[in-house]
Amino acid sequence: MRGAGMLNVLAVLALCVLATWTSAANVTYDGRALVIDGKRKVLISGSIHYPRSTPEMWPDLIQKSKDGGLDVIETYVFWDQHEPNRGQYDFGGRKDLVKFVKTVAEAGLYVHLRIGPYVCAEWNYGGFPVWLHFIPGIKFRTDNEPFKGEMKRFTAMIVDMMKKEKLYASQGGPIILSQIENEYGNIDQAYGSAAKSYINWAATMAISLDTGVPWVMCQQADAPDPIINTCNGFYCDQFTPNSNKKPKMWTENWTGWFLLFGGSLPSRPVEDIAFSVARFFQRGGTFQNYYMYYGGTNFGRTTGGPFIATSYDYDAPIDEYGLLRQPKWGHLRDLHKAIKLCEDAMVATDPTITSLGSNLEASVYKTGSGSCAAFLANVGTNSDATVNFNGNTYHLPAWSVSILPDCKNVVLNTAKINSVATIPRFAHPLNDGVDSSEAFQSDWSWTNEPVGISKRDSFTKVGLLEQINTTADKSDYLWYSLSTEVHADEPFLQDGSQTLLHVESLGHGLHAFVNGKLAGSGMGNGGNAKVAVEIPITLVPEKNTIALLSLTVGLQNYGAFFDIVGAGITGPVKIKGLKNGTTVDLSSLQWTYQIGLKGEELGLPSGSSESSSQWKPFSTLPKQQPLVWYKTKFDAPAGSNPIALDFTGMGKGEAWVNGQSIGRFWPSYISPSSGCPDSCNYRGSYNSNKCRLNCGQASQKLYHVPRSWLQASGNTLVLFEEIGGDPTTISLATRQIRSLCSHVSESYPAPVDMWGSDAKARRKLGPILSLECPSPNQVISSIEFASFGTPRGTCGNFSHGQCSSRRALSVVKKACVGLKSCAIGVSAETFGNPCKGVTKSLAVEASCR
Ligand code: GAL
Repeated sequence: MRGAGMLNVLAVLALCVLATWTSAANVTYDGRALVIDGKRKVLISGSIHYPRSTPEMWPDLIQKSKDGGLDVIETYVFWDQHEPNRGQYDFGGRKDLVKFVKTVAEAGLYVHLRIGPYVCAEWNYGGFPVWLHFIPGIKFRTDNEPFKGEMKRFTAMIVDMMKKEKLYASQGGPIILSQIENEYGNIDQAYGSAAKSYINWAATMAISLDTGVPWVMCQQADAPDPIINTCNGFYCDQFTPNSNKKPKMWTENWTGWFLLFGGSLPSRPVEDIAFSVARFFQRGGTFQNYYMYYGGTNFGRTTGGPFIATSYDYDAPIDEYGLLRQPKWGHLRDLHKAIKLCEDAMVATDPTITSLGSNLEASVYKTGSGSCAAFLANVGTNSDATVNFNGNTYHLPAWSVSILPDCKNVVLNTAKINSVATIPRFAHPLNDGVDSSEAFQSDWSWTNEPVGISKRDSFTKVGLLEQINTTADKSDYLWYSLSTEVHADEPFLQDGSQTLLHVESLGHGLHAFVNGKLAGSGMGNGGNAKVAVEIPITLVPEKNTIALLSLTVGLQNYGAFFDIVGAGITGPVKIKGLKNGTTVDLSSLQWTYQIGLKGEELGLPSGSSESSSQWKPFSTLPKQQPLVWYKTKFDAPAGSNPIALDFTGMGKGEAWVNGQSIGRFWPSYISPSSGCPDSCNYRGSYNSNKCRLNCGQASQKLYHVPRSWLQASGNTLVLFEEIGGDPTTISLATRQIRSLCSHVSESYPAPVDMWGSDAKARRKLGPILSLECPSPNQVISSIEFASFGTPRGTCGNFSHGQCSSRRALSVVKKACVGLKSCAIGVSAETFGNPCKGVTKSLAVEASCR
């Protein structure tokens, strides 16, 4: 009985899930909006790329997106993942596109499927499989038959797959939109007149696939009808589509930026993101997508490049570890609610835009039936303003937009954050004081990667080979090796005067070994991959072996002809300073080549027992030595907090947990010491170099290990260390949120959730400060700080100002301690009035346990 009852419950649940998307929806568009089943829509979308997280994480990420007010999840489709070899497909695990789309559908959200198949996306080779490059006669992204043939085949395969699963809205599925190509308009000039015929072909090809939903091209001003051209950027309020029959759509609003190895940490203030979004909707936009809403991790060798880091956190509203980034997530959620309150008026009409003074602008959406919504903007970067609008006065901080869903009352101002802020941290000592790094120390085994040629499939060639054409990207590594004779009478052999090895390469990096010893290294950077190095070397009489290990750090993903930029040691390679200052050019001698590492061939990354004879014991563990494989076992930290490995102390390489690559690590690459401001002013146009953090620190020392890749105990960690490091300094960390803050002023509007109640009740209630612990099993355990008056500082370092109520701390403690969440009215009624005539605010910092 019990079993049958359970089955019934499951059947009902399944029906509910299916019920979300069973009836076919007709998706079209007009000059105002996307139209779903005859209704124009204001849609908020966010990017989550399925291979940058695990299927186990997807439901939670998607639920958090829904709770954040998203209607649509956008993802690219990653061709290289799905067709690693031509004609061999892979849609398993993190590559399970159908499962991802269905998971979004189950949450009741729509999907925007950006097929590309060129995707850029800081993804290896822009998402193209590298085998594509070897098709005879192929030229990428232009009017070239072999390329078009492959692009069409893959695009049609994906469309067919979606159709078979009935995933298009026209079939009752969640996909309401698709993209072909990606930002081709940014670089099309380099392709001459063929660019136009290519883009026309791509449009016709896409339309012919008959998905039943609209197609877009982003950054493509000449996108042919009926394809909608859309905008990408930090701001898109000034954008207009190429026809007044197409809606104004924003496919990439960058919520931060990507991290480079060697770079500081990008961040974009939420006040500025909210401003950009509100400005877009103020000026007639109806579809906006956050790139990224959740960025995630570039596992394995998926990152583009060169030098794009393993973390693809992006400063997105949901952080790399799947935790809410606050107040970013919360403030944007409030913004989405405010915008949705205006939806009926917005979709009914175009805005009437008027100036309210210099840098001040009002947009009014007013319908015949009497609904009215308004957006008031101050686009000035310095001065706050007071404006008159519809007979009332409104205070508008600089660089902000106020939203008035009834053309009268402000429900939200983009610069006034009502949401809670959190301070995440990585806790190293796990399980109450047991130092997790201990867990590794006694258990490391190791083995050397041989210097130079060690594999049987090595080969010789006269001259220097370009790397990608040689390795087909099967590995990051390519050895270039030769022996050279030095006569015993060379003066430097007697007097020790310097000899230099001069190497020029297309990058991305190289390590030079002379007679088995590392002599020096050279690395390019994200901006320019070219590397020229002069490395002092010591030669011996007679035979010397020069072995150059050339490496790539993610293949190029952006720019005209990025696919043929190339990599590796293309020369010249010279020895300088031999007798009489002569130079010996080695470039066109016979070189021996080896693709990849011996350890890769042996399957060391898998950590499996077949390779166990290789491993040597801890007692002989080498430290700070190049080319070493390390292996250890570890237990998963207790609990459910997300996990990272802290690679502080290591040089550069790649790491595998239970055989799965968690990506390249490079904690020894330190970002420039300058370029990070003391404080970040969100006012004024953002660019990716503004508001940088982490200057002079390792670009990335922490590396995400998805929980689902771990067992409770006995997990295998294997690393390949290229430069030299000490694995005993590696430790586990868990990502936690313990501190919460909020800072709300008397001048803020009542929370957007209050809008349902009447205006009088809202005014009476006034602004509210609320706190809520991030995880369901936590409660507010203590109040670290509370001040009502003129408190200063930011979350984590608040201090009292000149004016502060003596009651604040006790009032807040009483209202909050022991509870999961609490809400406090920000007014003199609650706290008394410590300074009359001054606008006061309430700042609180609390801890959750
Ligand atoms: C855009 C591109 C995206 C991504 C982004 C930067 O130009 O379309 O795929 O690369 O830049 O993160």
